[in-house]
Amino acid sequence: MKITVIGLGYLGATHAVAMSKTGHQVIGLEKNPAKLESLKQGKAGFFEPGLDEALAVEIASGRLTFQADHDENSAAADLHFICVGTPQTKESLAADTSYLFSAIEDLAPHLKPESVVVGKSTVPVGTAAALHSRLAELTGFEPHLAWNPEFLREGTALEDSLRPDRLVVGVNDERSEAALREVFAPMIASGIPFLVVDIPTAELVKAAANAFLATKISFINAMAEIAEVAGADASQLAEAIGYDERIGNKFLRNGVGFGGGCLPKDIRALMARAEELGVGQSVAYLKEIDNINLRRRERVVAMLEAELGNLSKKRILVLGAAFKPDSDDVRDSPALGIAMLAYAKGAEVVIHDPVALPGVALKHPELIGQQDLEKAFSDVEAVVLATEWREYRQLDPATVVGKVANALIIDGRNVLDINSWQHAGFKVLALGKNVKGNK
Ligand code: UDX
Repeated sequence: MKITVIGLGYLGATHAVAMSKTGHQVIGLEKNPAKLESLKQGKAGFFEPGLDEALAVEIASGRLTFQADHDENSAAADLHFICVGTPQTKESLAADTSYLFSAIEDLAPHLKPESVVVGKSTVPVGTAAALHSRLAELTGFEPHLAWNPEFLREGTALEDSLRPDRLVVGVNDERSEAALREVFAPMIASGIPFLVVDIPTAELVKAAANAFLATKISFINAMAEIAEVAGADASQLAEAIGYDERIGNKFLRNGVGFGGGCLPKDIRALMARAEELGVGQSVAYLKEIDNINLRRRERVVAMLEAELGNLSKKRILVLGAAFKPDSDDVRDSPALGIAMLAYAKGAEVVIHDPVALPGVALKHPELIGQQDLEKAFSDVEAVVLATEWREYRQLDPATVVGKVANALIIDGRNVLDINSWQHAGFKVLALGKNVKGNK
């Protein structure tokens, strides 16, 4: 089929590559000139393992092209996938849907009545209905508008797009359903569950899934708060309850909590939308999920203060800046949150990350970025492991112990081999447990 993908950020760039790999003819539309140029050169512009390689292959195949604006060629598409961002608004918890409405304004003059417009962006429930009305107003005909939420995770984005756990499509006309069945035919044939639902359900699925995932993480982090004062171990607790299949062991890793461009923003947007709909109480508990999550960052800084006293002028190393490994995304990153809290207490904060430092320099030039891992340890008083990159887990503590004045490390992700770090001379503290065996 011939398709366009409008907006080529994380979601759009990945979807464009996945659709081209599936065999479709794909035109990617991107308004930002620098991003467009980079994509044409086969560079997605963000760190996602395997994506640039796949991008180059698809461009070379001739199936994937990029342009800034709609034209006759793009107007001939069977489906237009809208993948623009819906960030949190500055003034409230709500999501900013203005990019979606701009995308519709641009598309309308070129839209053919038989083409199907498919929203993929994460939106407050009810947004599609508003977009539908606006599109009908602009085009003068009843448009085919469907919703197809995307569940990709950063770090495994392409794999998640090509082999999702499920495909969900929200439709209210037969033509949209038929077109979506056709575009996803190879995935459906491979046995991936294909759920056809109404549009509000499709909009809500994504918010519901992310609220559930955030709740799971904050649940175990709430248990960690109890474990810390009761002398229990939250990681053992997670393992023990995770064997119950009804609970499951995934997304139960306790630590500094969740961040990124989705989970924090999506639970806040859901609270804001529920409030607008008059059912704010239904998800009022998500406020506490958010609070538990943010308290973990404060807890790390409190642990530093308990060990070092006043943090003023103390040099602290934060290992990791990205919100999770295999990503250069620092949006709402727990690691950056901890770094900034320590900085606010007067600490000199050195931050290391294998790929995310450029983003840190842009947002927080007050932090001292150090790309060289061994150098990053020089003359610091304590270390916080905040993102579980492989290089930190594999680090030989004997090579760095001499550089850390208080030989203190706080494992914010519960990934270090505590014995070997203690053996090398470190005092190890961790979230959710009282570490034994420290000298
Ligand atoms: C998430 C959803 O998983 C995905 O389905 C959706 O499309 C977008 O949002 P992503 O933001 O890429 O994906 O990250 P994810 O892997 O879900 O991790 C989110 C955060 O939770 C990270 O900061 C991670 O470190 C943290 N996390 C995850 C935990 O603290 N504990 C866990 O057990 C799992």
